Formats: sequence, C-alpha cells, structure tokens
Amino acid sequence: MGRLLFALTFFFLLSTLAFAGSWSAQNLESRKDDLYPEILRDEAVARLNELGKVSDAEAYLERTFMSPASVRAGNLIRGWMEDAGLRTWIDQMGNVHGRVDGINASSKAILIGSHLDTVVDAGIFDGSLGVVSAISALKVLNARGKLGNLLRPVEVIAFSDEEGVRFQSTFLGSAAVAGILPASALQFSDKSGVTVQGALKENSIQISEENLHNLKYDRDSVWGYVEVHIEQGPVLEWRGLPLGVVKGIAGQTRMKVTVRGSQGHAGTVPMSMRQDPMSAAAELIVLLESLCKRPEDFLSFDGHCKDSTVQSLSTSLVCTVGEISSWPSASNVIPGQVVFTVDIRAIDDMGREAVIYELSNRMYQICDRRSVSCIIERKHDAGAVMCDDELRRQLKFAADSALKRMSDNQFLDEVPVLMSGAGHDAMAISHLTKVGMIFVRCRGGVSHSPEEHVLDDDVWAAGLSVLAFLETHV
Ligand code: GLV
Ligand code: MN
Ligand code: MN
Repeated sequence: MGRLLFALTFFFLLSTLAFAGSWSAQNLESRKDDLYPEILRDEAVARLNELGKVSDAEAYLERTFMSPASVRAGNLIRGWMEDAGLRTWIDQMGNVHGRVDGINASSKAILIGSHLDTVVDAGIFDGSLGVVSAISALKVLNARGKLGNLLRPVEVIAFSDEEGVRFQSTFLGSAAVAGILPASALQFSDKSGVTVQGALKENSIQISEENLHNLKYDRDSVWGYVEVHIEQGPVLEWRGLPLGVVKGIAGQTRMKVTVRGSQGHAGTVPMSMRQDPMSAAAELIVLLESLCKRPEDFLSFDGHCKDSTVQSLSTSLVCTVGEISSWPSASNVIPGQVVFTVDIRAIDDMGREAVIYELSNRMYQICDRRSVSCIIERKHDAGAVMCDDELRRQLKFAADSALKRMSDNQFLDEVPVLMSGAGHDAMAISHLTKVGMIFVRCRGGVSHSPEEHVLDDDVWAAGLSVLAFLETHV
C-alpha cells in the first residue's frame, strides 16, 4: 500500500512537471508568434538600411525635398506600403500615402507618419524609423488577416519635408495636409533659385494655389495622429529604456541674418578703417550664445518676461548657428557680405518671442556700432505643441505592453514621459487633429549625424508598440 501510494505520488509529480514543461515551451512559442521578429525587427532593420543608402550624395546621406533620391525613397516606401496591403498614392506636395479602410471607410481615420527627407550627412533613422515601423505593424495585421477588421481607416504618411534643408522652411508636406501651408510657400526658392513649385514640376507634379488648398484634410475625417521617432537626445539611454512617450514639443524660430560691410583688400585696408561683416557676424553669434546660455541676465530686468517664463527658458532655451557663408569667400578679401542662420527653440512661446526681440535689438546695436548693415529675416516659426493627454495615455499603454511582451512581463519600469526639443511633423498636424508621439532610444542621444544608431531590438520595440496601439482599434 505504501509502495502504491509512493508510485502514484511519483507518477503525479512527473506528469505535473511534464505538463508544466510543455506549457512553458508552448507559452514561449506562442509568445514568439505574437512578437513577429521577422517583420518588426529583421525586415524593418533591413529596410532602414536600404532606405539609408538612398542618397543624393555618394559619401553621405542627403535627401532634401523632391531631390532625385527623395523621389526614389518615396517610391521604395510606396512599394513597402503596398506589400503591407495598403492602397497608395503620392500627393501634389510629394507626400507618400498608404491607407486601409477597415470596416468603415467613412469613419475618422488614424494617421501615422513621419518624414522621408533628411538633413545633410544624416543618420538613417530620423524620420525613416517612424515610417518603417508603422508599415511593419500594418504588415503584421495584414499577415494575420486583421486589416479588414480595423474599426476605422488607418493611413500611413511619409511626409516630403520635415527638415526644411532645401527651402529653409520646415513641414512643407505635413503643413499642406494640415492646411496651414501658405500659398506663398510655393514660391520659396532654394540656393539655385528653383522654387517649391518648380521642384515639384521637375517631377511632373503640377501644383497651383488651388490644388494646394485641396490637399488639406477635413478635420472631421481624422481621428488623431501618431508619430514614432528616435528621441535624438540621451534620456532614454540614461534611463535604460527603449521607449518613451512625448508630452510636448518645443516651439522654434529660424532666422536668416545678412550682414553687409565694405568689401576690400586684406592686405591694404587698415584695421581701423574696416567695415568687416565677418567680425561683426562673429560678435553677433557670440551674443546669441551668451543670451541663450544665460537668458536671465538679458531678460529679467526689463520687465518683458514673467519669472516663470525666464525660469522655463533657463532649462529649455537652445540656440544654434548651423550655416554661415561669406561673399566672395577668399582668404585675401575682406568679405562684402556674411549670411548666417539662427535656430531658436524653447518650450515657452512668449519666452522665445522675448529672446528674439532682445536678440534683434542687440544685434542691430552691434551692427550700428560697427558701421555694417544688418537684415534679420524670420524664415520659419512653429509654436510649442502639447500632445493630447488621452492619446498620450493610450500610446504609453501600447509602449508599456510592447515592452512587457518582449520581456515576458519582466519589464517593471514604466515608459517615461519626455519633452521634445526637436521639431516633428506632429507640430504641423496638431493644427488638424490631436497628436501623440512615441520616442525610441538612440545611442548616445546622437542624431543629425551618421553616428545616429538604434539597436535592432529597439526597432522591434517601436514596431511592436505601433502594433499594440493598432490592436486596440481592431
Ligand atoms: C528637425 O529635425 C529639427 O528639429 O530641426
Ligand atoms: Mn531631423
Ligand atoms: Mn525628424
């Protein structure tokens, strides 16, 4: 009897262990099945690398609005959209669209997007990651036969211009969709005198003021906009987390400063008799740096700003001169003219305005003192944007659940909420609908550089978070 009891207990234990073993193996298998690494990681990374080779320059990555490489990139992306089961078209600002109607083509659509253009000497993830991860997530739904079950239409848009490199005016593509691009933008010209309208025409796209207006989406046809983007800063890496969600995006102003002096011979004009725009530009640039490093020293005394504004500026204000050129640009000539760009960003719009006001006044004073002329033009303005609270919660939930799925629920830290100092298409689209963003960790926080890097598994996490978000709409 004792032996029988022992044998039965032993048999029971063995079968329990065998059942537990087969359950956990099965669990792992099914877990892998809904993580789709082949599409969300391996194929997405391969596509990012492929897109990263589509460049107008041989030695580095450069794709500006409607350049030959941008057009090739757009066609490549369009093919991937079709591969994911989406209906595609390219609009008259060069934006590439891929849409699926779901069960009700007339309900409000979810837009998911980012940009296909790049800066000069760019990394391969800025913009492209958002486009590729959205297409990959929809490809998974298509593979599962779920595209038709989406409760509302979903549309991926690869916007044609977020960086503003060619025309010094960002968001040409997304602003047209949002209906905030002025018709005058069609006449902006690049360094070779080609206008936006001309650049489109060279690619057989006819755009007039009237059909620009037709690109605007009807507010009532859109549910909201989601954008996945690399963080372009160091916080996620520092926190040891692949994903974060965005609370708001800093406002920005871009200006062009032209300083004109007296062109002359570098060997003959005495120092005391010069009106040198290069030395003046140097002083103006150092002024910009000082003001932006210590706004409180420049703004707090004249009563233009509230204390809270000055405080907010002291943590979020950043200013950059990224481009400078001189004429005639020769080592033995005192230049006649120097032109440089100024990029100013801050979370507080009033504060940014106060900085621009103060900066402009002081710049004109310096130019007067140096007997050079100075023209300051505002080329681009975008107010700070706050992401929608509810959409942020939904994206946070999606990002949390993606990370939990990837780590078999071992992931304990919640995804953090961050502010964005970089500009995004979401800023333009916020004029059309509510917006939300997910940030993806990048190595060292480096972006706008060929050193930009995202881990393959973080690309996977990005795609999985879009999938998790879309699954709540199936
Ligand atoms: C875009 O990358 C910007 O913030 O300048
Ligand atoms: Mn960028
Ligand atoms: Mn970008």
